Amino acid sequence: MAIKKIIAANWKENPGTAKEAEALFSAVMRAAASVPSVRVVVCPPSVFIGSVGNLMRTQAGRISANFALGAQDVFWEDEGAFTGGVGPRILRGLGVRYAIIGHSERRRFFGETDEMVERKARAAREGGIVPIVCVGEPHEVRRKGIAAAKRFLAVQLRKGLKGIADPDRRGKGKELIVAYEPVWAIGSGNNDRPADAAVIAAFIKTMVPGAKVLYGGSVNEGNVREYTQSDEIDGALVGGASLKADAFKKIIHTI
Ligand code: 13P
Repeated sequence: MAIKKIIAANWKENPGTAKEAEALFSAVMRAAASVPSVRVVVCPPSVFIGSVGNLMRTQAGRISANFALGAQDVFWEDEGAFTGGVGPRILRGLGVRYAIIGHSERRRFFGETDEMVERKARAAREGGIVPIVCVGEPHEVRRKGIAAAKRFLAVQLRKGLKGIADPDRRGKGKELIVAYEPVWAIGSGNNDRPADAAVIAAFIKTMVPGAKVLYGGSVNEGNVREYTQSDEIDGALVGGASLKADAFKKIIHTI
């Protein structure tokens, strides 16, 4: 069945143990199997990717092809003296197919710049991993209106996707995902108006032709459909609600 929408779960620094991660992953896998038209990408903390990946393999027969493993970050080098680095090759070896890059929390707490985002996105793509590049404006920008938000996002997109935004250079058929996550909407319960998010998604698509656009920021089972019913929005990047198996199941089933 053709995939219509993408739901990506960003677990952030949760849960606290590998056992809990495996339990949550199993519950989500079961939920995803019954909705083959939705691609479900689960992004656990990197240290748990190995154990959830094993779980995925041992249940291979029962997993539908719509389910995929993602990482929350990827370094741009594959191997070498890069303390703490986890590059595309390591991730691919663990069965990872997607990587979130440039999340606003990485930018804020880990000092990531647009230039670093660009290197990571390029390395991921070259290493066979689909980048989910995050962009989003802070509240002081959005307060000035949608046009100001577009100007802010245009800079992030131009710098962060410099090496890969051109569809010819990107190569036909290579997937590229941009997640629009207004910073003020993340974890605040203050989700963006779906109509505004759709306008911004359309804008992102004019800047990055061929890219899919997800919306993220306080998405839950009650509001997800308002985003995914828009043609401009290809799915959602979900934080808090992806940690509750029931809520996440409802999100997958609701769309
Ligand atoms: P919340 O869904 O918790 O607002 O988080 C969104 C997010 O940052 C996903 O990457």
